[in-house]
Amino acid sequence: MKQLIKNGILVDSDGQYSQDLLIENGVICQRDTAIEADSQCEVIDASGCYVMPGGIDVHTHFNIDVGIARSCDDFFSGTRAAACGGTTTIIDHMGFGPAGCNLHHQLNVYHQYAAGNAAIDYGFHGVIQHIDDGILEEMASMVHDEGISSFKLYLTYLYKINDADVLRALGQLRQVGALTTVHPENDAAIALRRAALVAAGKTAPIHHALSRPLECEAEAIGRMINLAHLADNAPLYIVHLSNGLGLDYLRLARQQRQPVWVETCPQYLLLNEQCYLREDGAKYILSPPLRDQRELDRLWIGIADGSIDTVATDHCTFPYHQRQAMATGDFTRCPNGLPGVENRMMLLFSHGVLSGRISPSRFVALTSSNPARLFGLWPRKGNLNPGADADVVIFDPRQSTVISHAWLHDNADYSPYEGFQCQGAPVLTMCRGEIVARNGEFTGRQGYGQFLRRRPFNAQIAAKMG
Ligand code: URP
Ligand code: ZN
Ligand code: ZN
Ligand code: ZN
Repeated sequence: MKQLIKNGILVDSDGQYSQDLLIENGVICQRDTAIEADSQCEVIDASGCYVMPGGIDVHTHFNIDVGIARSCDDFFSGTRAAACGGTTTIIDHMGFGPAGCNLHHQLNVYHQYAAGNAAIDYGFHGVIQHIDDGILEEMASMVHDEGISSFKLYLTYLYKINDADVLRALGQLRQVGALTTVHPENDAAIALRRAALVAAGKTAPIHHALSRPLECEAEAIGRMINLAHLADNAPLYIVHLSNGLGLDYLRLARQQRQPVWVETCPQYLLLNEQCYLREDGAKYILSPPLRDQRELDRLWIGIADGSIDTVATDHCTFPYHQRQAMATGDFTRCPNGLPGVENRMMLLFSHGVLSGRISPSRFVALTSSNPARLFGLWPRKGNLNPGADADVVIFDPRQSTVISHAWLHDNADYSPYEGFQCQGAPVLTMCRGEIVARNGEFTGRQGYGQFLRRRPFNAQIAAKMG
């Protein structure tokens, strides 16, 4: 089967080109000016549109059980929504398993969740919920036999890891060729503040933000940078950055050539803590929390100046009706997390590219090629070069949309971006040559997605990020 995408502007992380793209059996086989279609070719006209590598969202939580609740999106509804928004690969953060379980236990659970369900390609980040000799020993086989080349540590929540165990994990993960990712928040400081707020009867959504101010996050980022340096410069990836002070610490580490990278999410760029003062403020409870507008401005500077490496969503969905029923006005009883997997690409395209903050190439770097380079998917994913999977999104900058949950494809009952105006929309999403979404409608198939065995972390590949 052959497809030819014609007349569009091809964009990759290096530049933009008036080129056509020829695809054969789900793989890109040629990119050139004015490729002629032969009689077996399906021609896709991309006049006036950008043709870009499909989005790679390296931070989702489908099927997650957070103890007090289970997310309402599974690998089908979550990847269906992702496809409609121009994303062709997700890497899901495996959730915690039973206390004391090993790494392969959660991997088996997640393979069962995803196989036969995912509509686009997928991988998993391992989860470290405790450290002992057995876990350290298992890491090598997770990387080399199972294709799991990144692992997440949490410094807060139920299975937080202490500093000694963080050091052991960082050292071993570096040795086996894995990237350590971390949710950095100072758990003790949060617990103290939270107890004081609760004792004073202050449990409204805004108190969620006041219980974990940016210093809690920035302190943990600084600590992780130093622990990674102590662990022989172990590579480190900070997830869901929400503040400018943490970004300054990362910039400083980068200046010393430390291998650290950082992700932010659309909610930290576009929603501020005023949301907690709304009547429906419980819709926005997540950790780290939304911040003051000044922090949003600082993150946008990082998006533009190259100091932020990726934009992912942290899609983790609990419906508003469930949040209300569980929390009844008390933030401590509300499950944390926001939906957003379908809106990442259009939000960043509209508020980043078309508002003049970033170039189309930088958009591709943030949403696709940098994630592929960091997480062992390059060169198969994240680019439009011959030999790569035909994972393509066609963006039409002339289309405008107003985001409404009514047309989204996840299982939530609200969107945190309801009413947001977006200029530019993904009009076609292709995963390995299959058109999985067109004009915002799902055209793919449950179970089409393949598990991606990711390569070990590679510093040379990461060094060429855009
Ligand atoms: O509140 C959030 N972000 N929930 C999802 C889990 C996590 O911390 O990434
Ligand atoms: Zn987190
Ligand atoms: Zn998360
Ligand atoms: Zn639909």
